[in-house]
Amino acid sequence: MWGVRALFGVGLLVTSRGACVRACTGTCPRVCENPYKASAARQACTMANTIKYLDQEEAQHIDEELFSEYSFSVDQLMELAGQSCAIAVAKGYPLQSLLKSTPRVLVVCGPGNNGGDGLVCARHLKLFGYDPTVLYPKRPNKQLFHNLTTQCEKMEIAFLSKMPEAEEIDEVYNLVVDAIFGFSFKGAVREPFGDILSVLKKVTVPIASVDIPSGWDVEKGSSDGIQPDMLISLTAPKQAAAHFVGRYHYLGGRFVPPALEKKYKLGLPQYPGTDCVCQLN
Ligand SMILES: *[C@@H]1O[C@H](CO)[C@@H](O)[C@H](O)[C@H]1NC(C)=O
Repeated sequence: MWGVRALFGVGLLVTSRGACVRACTGTCPRVCENPYKASAARQACTMANTIKYLDQEEAQHIDEELFSEYSFSVDQLMELAGQSCAIAVAKGYPLQSLLKSTPRVLVVCGPGNNGGDGLVCARHLKLFGYDPTVLYPKRPNKQLFHNLTTQCEKMEIAFLSKMPEAEEIDEVYNLVVDAIFGFSFKGAVREPFGDILSVLKKVTVPIASVDIPSGWDVEKGSSDGIQPDMLISLTAPKQAAAHFVGRYHYLGGRFVPPALEKKYKLGLPQYPGTDCVCQLN
């Protein structure tokens, strides 16, 4: 979380002291240069190679391989992905930059794993000092999603029974997290998500999309779809991300084993220090 505070100076001091202590042997200077200063300002990814923008099939293969060959479990990676999203949101829209002391965030969750990422994101946002409210209209009857829902309820996160109108969202919320559809989205949008996306096209508060702006073709994007202000690409960006014109493009999901990265020639950037997100644009 220091990246957020670093923008306001306080954390930078702490970070630079921490770096100083680690780097120091013998007589330590009272003040020392923070080696991460440049990256702390923008939390930029360090690009050693050209990062690959995945097509839908590649994204699916990588996802399958993480579970089959690399023995990860869904809830494990969902936790890391959802937490990355909350951290990216906190970096793009720091508490201190928003007018309300406890900014309200509407987290719209879809029927699949992207919705699960959203539930995890909501829980971490709550821990970070935001006030998330969840809309989760189509809940899969699977233990994992029941559990994630219970975890949010136990954190006193409110669930809405229907999508508010755009005007109400603009009035009540500071931000919307779009966790409706992910990289496996194909075909037509089913209700109630068609109506929900029409509302999201009208809101003026920023939208942060998880992995893919919902409703977009995973490869071609969508010129008349929602236009999020933030996109958090998970694992690696998908081709649609090339059509993203919002302010913040973050990469999150720092869990890709190097052998898998090599096999798919992902050209992933280096994340700064121990951060689990970095900014691509
Ligand atoms: C859900 O939570 C229960 C305990 O309430 C636990 O036994 C179970 O393993 C969890 N299932 C999943 C898929 O997370």
